[in-house]
Amino acid sequence: MDLAYMAALPQEEFTERRQKVFAQMQPNSALLLFSEIEKRRNNDCDFPFRQDSYFWYLTGFNEPNAALLLIKTEDAEKAVVFLRPRDPFLETWNGRRLGVERAPQKLNVDEAYSIDDFKTEFPKLTEKLTALYHVADRHPWGDKLLAESAVKFYAVFDWQPMLSEMRLIKSSNEIRLMQQAGQITAFGHIKAMQVTRPNRFEYEIESEILYEFNRHGAKFPSYNSIIAGGDNACILHYTENDQPLKDGDLVLIDAGCEFAMYAGDITRTFPVNGKFTQPQREIYELVLKAQKRAIELLVPGNSIKLANDEVIRIKTQGLMDLGILKGDVDKLIEEKAYRQFYMHGLGHWLGLDVHDVGRYDDDRSRKLEVGMIITVEPGIYISEEADVPAQYKGIGVRIEDNLLMTEYGNKNLTAAAPKEIDDIIDNAVDVIAQSLKASLHPHMNEDFANCFV
Ligand code: GLY
Ligand code: MN
Ligand code: MN
Repeated sequence: MDLAYMAALPQEEFTERRQKVFAQMQPNSALLLFSEIEKRRNNDCDFPFRQDSYFWYLTGFNEPNAALLLIKTEDAEKAVVFLRPRDPFLETWNGRRLGVERAPQKLNVDEAYSIDDFKTEFPKLTEKLTALYHVADRHPWGDKLLAESAVKFYAVFDWQPMLSEMRLIKSSNEIRLMQQAGQITAFGHIKAMQVTRPNRFEYEIESEILYEFNRHGAKFPSYNSIIAGGDNACILHYTENDQPLKDGDLVLIDAGCEFAMYAGDITRTFPVNGKFTQPQREIYELVLKAQKRAIELLVPGNSIKLANDEVIRIKTQGLMDLGILKGDVDKLIEEKAYRQFYMHGLGHWLGLDVHDVGRYDDDRSRKLEVGMIITVEPGIYISEEADVPAQYKGIGVRIEDNLLMTEYGNKNLTAAAPKEIDDIIDNAVDVIAQSLKASLHPHMNEDFANCFV
């Protein structure tokens, strides 16, 4: 029987990750990770279940109410899973469970116990151990179990820095899944460009994007989609998506799929009626210029900060050239005058979480390394209330791509989503979509379908 929740990655990859964790643990210690639990949406209806990303990273196990315990003594290592026991009645109503008996083989762990026995088994398993790696307040249901098990450790360490650093550098299997997430996300944006017309509602475009994600095997978006017509684009996390798109406005779309647990994160901005006005074109060209320069700079050895400093200079100079900012360029940069039009960072780590984990260092000055995946997303937002020449009010533009750091520079995982002006006006996007389809691997749809085996 296929269990739909088993991982898209080979089981050995999860085992290898656990081995890397064991290698970093002190002798006579245990590391404890809890899974997510079901979350109530209303009355007896739950939100769709989404596994905790750290728990997934070390188990590939997609059930709620589970725990992973790694035990390291002087001379042995042991991986233990606690999980929900089989229950024919509940499984008939709510879905299949892996169960205790099948868990060691399926998850390649040494032992498995019912989560109902945590309080009695955990003390026995951790007897004589001195240290525990644990993160409190992450999963209160687990903290409660731990408190009730009444084991006191000599020392408690935070596992987060260790696991976050591991997650930051992607394996070749993870890169393959991220590439597919980027590609499917691009399909969603191409579809949005094809179907957008004046007077269609933002939610209509959202539904087309989600359909495109879903039909390629990406059941969920990796965050709530932003479909922001006109001035709505100046609200950074606008997700109401309930307004009609107006003739003459731009629409900013920030939407990404989650494919096999990995996130895509693309933003595109284009004219609702297929034609840029002159002021819209000027702002768009400025953001595109800044983004392209940033992409040149975002390579191993450089930092996000280095690229952002350049983006800030390009935008400040560009806004001066358009008469939106006035004064001396260096002084304006020093005073952060751009902040009223560019109030977020240039990019972030991307992976199992859209805002993925890993250390950034001050101002994102950490040097990029091969295997990291980041976003590059400069924007300019000029609200209706801004004190600027009238023709620029109500224009919000962001352009966002996903970059993999490689030994040859970077690879743009989302290049399939058009962003050149000539490619996103009128019907140009249809031409792009046709040629993209023709160039795709013929079995791509099958690959998507087979991702959860
Ligand atoms: N979609 C969230 C972000 O771009 O950071
Ligand atoms: Mn985004
Ligand atoms: Mn982003």
